[in-house]
Amino acid sequence: MKNNSKTFALFGNPLEHSLSPLMHNAVFEKMNIDARYMAIRVENVRDILAEIKKSNIHGASITIPHKTAIMEYLDEISSSSFSIGAVNTVTHSNGKLKGDNTDWTGFTLALRESIEIQGKTFAILGAGGAARATIFGILEEGGTPIILNRTIKKGEELAKEFGCEFYPLTEIGEIKGDCLINTTPVGMFPDMEKSPASRDVLQNFRWVMDIIYNPLKTKILKDAEEAGCSTITGVSMFVHQGAEQIKIWTGLQPPIDFMKKTVLEKLKNETS
Ligand code: ATR
Repeated sequence: MKNNSKTFALFGNPLEHSLSPLMHNAVFEKMNIDARYMAIRVENVRDILAEIKKSNIHGASITIPHKTAIMEYLDEISSSSFSIGAVNTVTHSNGKLKGDNTDWTGFTLALRESIEIQGKTFAILGAGGAARATIFGILEEGGTPIILNRTIKKGEELAKEFGCEFYPLTEIGEIKGDCLINTTPVGMFPDMEKSPASRDVLQNFRWVMDIIYNPLKTKILKDAEEAGCSTITGVSMFVHQGAEQIKIWTGLQPPIDFMKKTVLEKLKNETS
């Protein structure tokens, strides 16, 4: 490794199935950036801070379960991260740590490839961290989110915080909108036969999006295709959130199509 090589890392637990190291290392090489990106499994959020300083890590991706806990240890936090209540990107510069959230920008960039968000209604399944980023993104772009969640109290609190409507997940059949978005982990590898919504309610939406990218075509997306909906997989959001991280860390625009191709090839090989 040359002296000017920069080190980047993904911190979380578990990490085994993450495609971030593959995607980031491939794009650094493609962009001729002398850098390496490692996956570091950490159970305690304080270990992230120690590792960033010890190994002089220039940029870090933060994933489950540390996205919220890391916030109190940072020197600066972007206003969107503050509103969402989560940081997925840390930049280490001049001894200071800054937190950003690229989940919401990645989400809106991915959604915009298929839909103009302004003026449309989006039914959001789930009320966790991923839901918060999507709700924030939809509101920023002038759309209307409706929250549907299994646990009523959690959904109601989130709806109050963002000033939007809430319905219990059991009432999904009553909801009509332009697009349904799954932010729950239901249907993710290895529980691929599960779906957070029954097939008969999907026809109430023109588009159905899943933010899960592994598997590429989740059960809800297969059912949605059969119901005649247009579908949006989670790959584009995953790629855009990573591309936004590269922009923050390097100031350069990475090649999105190359990143998408790298991830899709890996996912297709895994499922074939
Ligand atoms: P993340 O940060 O990935 O969003 P999270 O904060 O744990 O993860 O949130 C997961 C969301 O998926 C929650 O809204 C959860 O519903 P509850 O609030 O009822 O726990 C939802 N979820 C998880 N498993 C679910 C399931 N089997 N059916 C319906 N919703 C589920």
